[in-house]
Amino acid sequence: MRGAVLYKSYCSGCHGDDPDAGTQGIYKGLTAEVIEAAYRRVDSMRLLASALTAANNADIAAFIESRVRR
Ligand code: HEC
Repeated sequence: MRGAVLYKSYCSGCHGDDPDAGTQGIYKGLTAEVIEAAYRRVDSMRLLASALTAANNADIAAFIESRVRR
């Protein structure tokens, strides 16, 4: 799954290996829109807004969705 690879490379350093057990509100990242808004809001994530495409963010959101138990 593409999102799993992207998550591991770009997100797990701050948010933990598993989004379900992860930190800093990563479990909220269920859509590309939420993720992109977070890049804009959080200074330490700002670089990701240019590093990742909308398609990347959708893949990451799908991975987070598949991991988070609600
Ligand atoms: C350099 C560290 C760092 C990296 C890398 C990082 N984040 Fe974050 N992220 C944070 C911090 C810190 C917060 C919490 C900020 C707050 O609550 O004010 C956060 C919060 C979030 C939130 C919650 C936003 C909200 O509305 O509360 C989401 C979703 C998120 N990050 C997604 C991601 C994704 C997806 C990636 C990988 C593409 C990523 N982050 C990579 C530091 C990081």
